[in-house]
Amino acid sequence: MSAKRVRTQVAIVGAGPAGLTLACLLHNAGIESVVIENRSREYVEERIRAGVLEQGTVEVLEAAGVGARMHREGIVHHGIYLQFDGERHRIPLSDLADGRSIVIYGQTEVVKDLIEARLEAGLDLRFGVADVSVGEIESDRPHVRFSHEHEQVELECDAIVGADGFHGVCRPAIAEHLRVFSREYPFAWLGILAAAPPSVDELVYAHHERGFALLSLRSAERTRLYLQVAADERLDEWPDERIWEELRRRVCLDGWTLVEGDVLEKGITPMRSFVAEPMQHGRLFLAGDSAHIVPPTGAKGLNLAVADVAVLADALIDSYRTGDRSALAAYSQTCLRRVWRAEHFSYWMTTMLHQLGDDPFDAQLQLSQLRYIVSSEAAARTLAENYVGLPVEHGAVRMG
Ligand code: FAD
Ligand code: PHB
Repeated sequence: MSAKRVRTQVAIVGAGPAGLTLACLLHNAGIESVVIENRSREYVEERIRAGVLEQGTVEVLEAAGVGARMHREGIVHHGIYLQFDGERHRIPLSDLADGRSIVIYGQTEVVKDLIEARLEAGLDLRFGVADVSVGEIESDRPHVRFSHEHEQVELECDAIVGADGFHGVCRPAIAEHLRVFSREYPFAWLGILAAAPPSVDELVYAHHERGFALLSLRSAERTRLYLQVAADERLDEWPDERIWEELRRRVCLDGWTLVEGDVLEKGITPMRSFVAEPMQHGRLFLAGDSAHIVPPTGAKGLNLAVADVAVLADALIDSYRTGDRSALAAYSQTCLRRVWRAEHFSYWMTTMLHQLGDDPFDAQLQLSQLRYIVSSEAAARTLAENYVGLPVEHGAVRMG
């Protein structure tokens, strides 16, 4: 069967936060794209993942014109708690990081807003595609091939963006040109979404001898809670009551109780650090999880994905408007500075807060580091500045 040929300016593989945000920024600048996604719209919109937006991410989404609901429903936080040794200590993020703050707004909601904006504008976004492959990426006419609704399609373009996550097809297509750095951790996170109001006003990161725990939230009625578990842990060994009991043991303090409720969703997330360099080859650009992964302890994955595409949107816009491709050529280098900072921060938070094994020397170092952060303003400032993130340098603003 011969393929139907379609032409666009930028072909975007993956409708996660990276692909959808990029498509939106490009559209606002008058650049056409086609976004293809191998899952269904429902699946993509319901997949529960991150929940903490850095101020820089909020600003990019605002500039992209998809910030209205985020501003109505997102919850601004100015601090987080670190809990260890039976005490809870507040880190005043905004006081320490130049007034910057974070917004609690689920990745599911960000994705819903972006999909709605794209479909309402009548722009090309195809769910449920299959057999995706990329080709001719070293030429100036690269293409993406896929099948969709019983039709073979060859999408010809000027550039391909691999925003297809860690398990996508774009990074493997240029594997021989990449250098890969990675680290696996011997533990995972068991996460639940609960029909319960938050028990605390801000996020709690708890270091405990039984393992790390995190109290987060999605709204005034929904909490998101995590437990460190073994890397090979099986979900069926964690009935709801066992999860609540373990959370109580790891986060409870005298005079404070954890509010419990029905468990609406639960899952296990592996922990990994990963970077592929460079994030581009020929006319293929990798963005977000397809190029890098951080363990979630630093709340950086989604924020890095948005920061990448803000840089990439500016570079593409520049190359179309002026013919100058130097920003595109520098894309990987520009992004990797932020990526490696986030890699270090996420590794540092992870190794400081989790149970690493049974070495008492490690345990003493962790406690010493935690005590230092809550007693030295300079140390707390380092955590705060990294947690709220660097501003995102980009000028891809909405053009109406
Ligand atoms: P993704 O969101 O992975 O989007 C990639 C998209 O590409 C997906 O929709 C996928 O279906 C699609 N795709 C894949 N292959 C193909 C193909 N061949 N063709 C077309 N489409 C394809 N971060 C946090 O900060 N906090 C968290 O709690 C947290 N939890 C996480 C839990 C899990 C299970 C995972 C995997 C990640 C989690 N993250 C978390 C990280 C954060 O969610 C990611 O960093 C973020 O989703 C990155 O966005 P992205 O657009 O780059 O990739
Ligand atoms: C979340 O709310 O899902 C969340 C919050 C903070 C993290 C990781 C995940 O560090």
